[in-house]
Amino acid sequence: MIDLEWIAMTTHPTPSPEPTQPPRQTGATSPSRAPRDYLLQLFSLEGRVAVVTGGSSGIGRAIAGALARAGASVVVLARGEAGLAATVEELTAEGCRAAWVSADLSTRDGVRTAAERAAGVFGEPDILVNSAGINLRPPMDELGEDVWDATMAVNLEAPFLLGQRFGPGMAERGYGRIIHISSQQAHRAFVQSGAYGASKGGLEALARSQAEAWSPRGVTCNLLVPGFVMTALNARLSSDPEKVAALAARTMIGRNGLAEDFAGAAVFLASAASAYVTGQSVFVDGGLSVH
Ligand SMILES: NC(=O)c1ccc[n+]([C@@H]2O[C@H](COP(=O)([O-])OP(=O)(O)OC[C@H]3O[C@@H](n4cnc5c(N)ncnc54)[C@H](OP(=O)(O)O)[C@@H]3O)[C@@H](O)[C@H]2O)c1
Repeated sequence: MIDLEWIAMTTHPTPSPEPTQPPRQTGATSPSRAPRDYLLQLFSLEGRVAVVTGGSSGIGRAIAGALARAGASVVVLARGEAGLAATVEELTAEGCRAAWVSADLSTRDGVRTAAERAAGVFGEPDILVNSAGINLRPPMDELGEDVWDATMAVNLEAPFLLGQRFGPGMAERGYGRIIHISSQQAHRAFVQSGAYGASKGGLEALARSQAEAWSPRGVTCNLLVPGFVMTALNARLSSDPEKVAALAARTMIGRNGLAEDFAGAAVFLASAASAYVTGQSVFVDGGLSVH
């Protein structure tokens, strides 16, 4: 059910002043704007509209911030109003365009209503990020149908329904980017994967099906695959220093993930630069999956 919709919009800030330090000598006669223009052409999200589920916390919040700072108008969608409002306030204070919609993605009606409300803010999205997720982790012997259903609803069914709502329109307009947040548990058992791992395995297959359907019409569908990221989702594990250190040691980089680690990969997958990347599981895990 939608509880509240709150919109905050401001214009982008004026560009920062040019650096006072002179550029390094390169032999060129005058400073060139070419690198900046080239990067904008590849990665700028100016004029794009993005909807980010789970955009009020953790990885989703970091991705929403990255897309907004790269120029997109971003609608963040989750249940808790405080986290949503804080996210939007932070972004609008920086001059970004952002808004929030409070909605529960655990029911089909909730997802449908949420999609309409989200599209009503800045228009139909060009970019859809499915980051909302839950991980309930009962041991397999105790995993009941209630946990199974709740997990599948938020982690797999909501991304499917949102894809059905927005994917065809993106394809008709000739540009779209769908980014799902998967998990290492789509690929391996890890700390009572249970229903969660199964939902993420399904999500990876869904992304490939979406890619097959819509990529010929300009809509790429990919997944970002985190390893262990210090967020509210795994507060119990994150609060155990021994487990945190042991998990960090399993990466190649030597630390666990931070939500901000997803910013660059998300902007890449949302931008023109990734036009030939589709159906892929992109691991952002410090090398955990290959160690
Ligand atoms: N952290 C990790 O180590 C890790 C590892 C692998 C994969 N992931 C995946 O990354 C994604 C983001 O996780 P995170 O670590 O950033 O977790 P998080 O900080 O707990 O964020 C989860 C987000 O989902 C929203 N959400 C949960 N249930 C919802 C519902 N029924 N309706 C609408 N929104 C809902 C939450 O907001 P409300 O509660 O206010 O609704 C919140 O914004 C998830 O899909 C997760 O499975 C995380």
